[in-house]
Amino acid sequence: MTTLITGATGHLGSLILEHALTRLPADRLAVSVRDPEKAVGLGVEVRHGDFDGPLTDTFAGVDTLLLVSVDGPDEIRIARHLNAVRAAAEAGVRHIVYTSVSDADTSPLSLARVHKATEEAIRATGITFTFLRNGMYHENYLPQGPGPIVTAAADGRIASVARDDLALAAAVVLSTPGHENAVYELTGARAWSFDELAALVGTTHDKVSQEERVAGLKGFGLPDFVAELLADIEVNIGRGVLAEVRPDLEKLIGRTPTTIEEATRR
Ligand SMILES: NC(=O)c1ccc[n+]([C@@H]2O[C@H](COP(=O)([O-])OP(=O)(O)OC[C@H]3O[C@@H](n4cnc5c(N)ncnc54)[C@H](OP(=O)(O)O)[C@@H]3O)[C@@H](O)[C@H]2O)c1
Repeated sequence: MTTLITGATGHLGSLILEHALTRLPADRLAVSVRDPEKAVGLGVEVRHGDFDGPLTDTFAGVDTLLLVSVDGPDEIRIARHLNAVRAAAEAGVRHIVYTSVSDADTSPLSLARVHKATEEAIRATGITFTFLRNGMYHENYLPQGPGPIVTAAADGRIASVARDDLALAAAVVLSTPGHENAVYELTGARAWSFDELAALVGTTHDKVSQEERVAGLKGFGLPDFVAELLADIEVNIGRGVLAEVRPDLEKLIGRTPTTIEEATRR
């Protein structure tokens, strides 16, 4: 009887595994990864699993599947997720935990489309589920070098969240009962603005338009769909879309979520 975590060589999946290993016996855990060579030494059973290919054998014998969302242009991403959900149903998985996004079913964010479609596909299988509707990571916003913080978020606020707190919440869900058909909105404990973040790290906040931001991100070499998606998130932050603070994360992890100030110091 196994719990399998996908994406375990990624940032979130590897942290989920670390926390899960402190809560569940290693022989009840497995991971699926695209490149098993990258997963040597994880201390659990490693299976090959690429969402672009067949996955029914990957998920065979799995009771609880933690599906970490993958990246890509919308249509490719949706096809990957639906492939994984179909395989989970074929393999007889009994519970699916899925890493979704805030308010996936109602959010105006363009990236919510993928998560809405995936949540709907999971519901349609009749398999019990837990939706971990992850807020934006603090880590997305920590400055990577000198210079101003540039965004299209204007004066908007965001209740972002430490990736590791989200991983801990996922491990709690995997290791405790009572999460069947639950939808958790996982945010930080406070919504902050980019002006505040800039003051915190000793820089300034340059407020630019959506078009300028897309052009700037493309100029850094990001693929068009990523530049558009990131700018869309910021514009929506400016409209207050990601500002609501929810209690679910604190309830799951049993402490106040890591603040942006703490994340910045680290
Ligand atoms: N909430 C946020 O702020 C935020 C920010 C960025 C992304 N996300 C979403 O949350 C997910 C997890 O975040 P993260 O920080 O862990 O991202 P990450 O480090 O990029 O991890 C993504 C994982 O997805 C795996 N993957 C990609 N394509 C795949 C495929 N075709 N089949 C199977 N696995 C595939 C990757 O495998 P490899 O290890 O083989 O590359 C990796 O393990 C992301 O994939 C994205 O959907 C959320």
